Amino acid sequence: MGALSRRDLFAAAAAGLATTAFPQALRPPPKEDDLTWEGIRGLFDLDPEVVHLAGMLLASHPRPVADEIERVRRLLDQNPADAWQRSNLAGEGRARARAAAYLKARPSDVALTGSTTEGLALLYNGISVRPDQEILTTVHDHAATSDSLEFRSARSGVPVRAVQLYDDPATASVDGVLRRLRQAIRPQTRVLAVTWVHSSTGVPLPISRMSDVVREANRGRAPEDRILFCVDGVHGLGVVPIDVHEFGCDFFAAGTHKWLFGPRGTGILWGRPEVQDMVSPTVPTFSGSFTWGQRMTPGGFHAFEHRWALDKAFDFHLKIKPERIQERIHALARRAKEGLARNPRVKLYTPASDDLSAGIVCFDVDGVRQNEVVRRLRERGIVASTTPYAVSYARFAPGILNTPEEVDRAVEAVARL
Ligand SMILES: Cc1ncc(COP(=O)(O)O)c(C=O)c1O
Repeated sequence: MGALSRRDLFAAAAAGLATTAFPQALRPPPKEDDLTWEGIRGLFDLDPEVVHLAGMLLASHPRPVADEIERVRRLLDQNPADAWQRSNLAGEGRARARAAAYLKARPSDVALTGSTTEGLALLYNGISVRPDQEILTTVHDHAATSDSLEFRSARSGVPVRAVQLYDDPATASVDGVLRRLRQAIRPQTRVLAVTWVHSSTGVPLPISRMSDVVREANRGRAPEDRILFCVDGVHGLGVVPIDVHEFGCDFFAAGTHKWLFGPRGTGILWGRPEVQDMVSPTVPTFSGSFTWGQRMTPGGFHAFEHRWALDKAFDFHLKIKPERIQERIHALARRAKEGLARNPRVKLYTPASDDLSAGIVCFDVDGVRQNEVVRRLRERGIVASTTPYAVSYARFAPGILNTPEEVDRAVEAVARL
């Protein structure tokens, strides 16, 4: 573990993942109806020679998503203008509809973005907050949140304050998080900006319990003073099933190109109907202006073969069943944590309990820097990552494309470091 600059962190993370070859074994065509874990893994063109434990960074496209991208690409290549004119509203409409089915929301409340980062930037740039109010965030967030808030603050003079919701991630508790949140909220707090699952530690925040605290604090406030609860949901989406209304936040931004295995360069931004008007667009849309979801969707011509294939990623998850996916990811993460915990040289940062972890497992190996852990694991055929934060750890992120045996292989490789 060691302190690194942000630029170093991104470079180190990239270097840790550098790979030398992408062999594509000739395999029988996968069967899309085979929803066993083995069948699901067969839908990915992943290099079978390595264990992929960094899918949380960027998705490999499963067959249904890849096929749809290819189908749309052919349409666009044959006649780009016609394809766009005939298919844009329908393609975007399908993506919104399937995202909404997954989130248990209305399609009209979903904007299509290029990533979590873009969704958060649009959100924090366009949100209604006066200079005499404040934005409350945490010390646990990714640069996508903290930098967006910093830009907003520099431009408009709105103060940003960051609270620490837990000291040691390994002993974080729901009650402790809620207590610190309650203490941190002030009458002038207008925006609460947090991250569902921390990619720095693997800790998921109890968002629906936090929304109770926000609701309590909002009692008696005028609409223009009410706290707007905003969440970066990227490392929960596709891991933990969600009903976004029960979840309780007001705005939810997530990339769909990580755990959800959507097309690379896609994401969503959802807004609660009652408070949508508190966020106005930054980028002109080409998507129509009937709904908030349309108005907030950045325009310009995009890689539409990716945007219009997003519905297939939500379908893929809905077909496998979000609850089954959660069970599988928890089981794999638990296996990784238990295996790593048996190693006296390993310090685990992600809590052991399923309630306080999702798919991300952060750890350190005594005497070995986190970059070195990732580099040496890569030499042994394990693709891990480092956390891109000032205090950085090594990280495994087992997903539905992994097997228990692969997790064991990774744990053993750590033991041999
Ligand atoms: C918590 C968190 N938010 C945002 C991002 C950036 O996501 P995107 O690539 O979708 O912008 C990351 C990167 O993995 C992250 O860990």
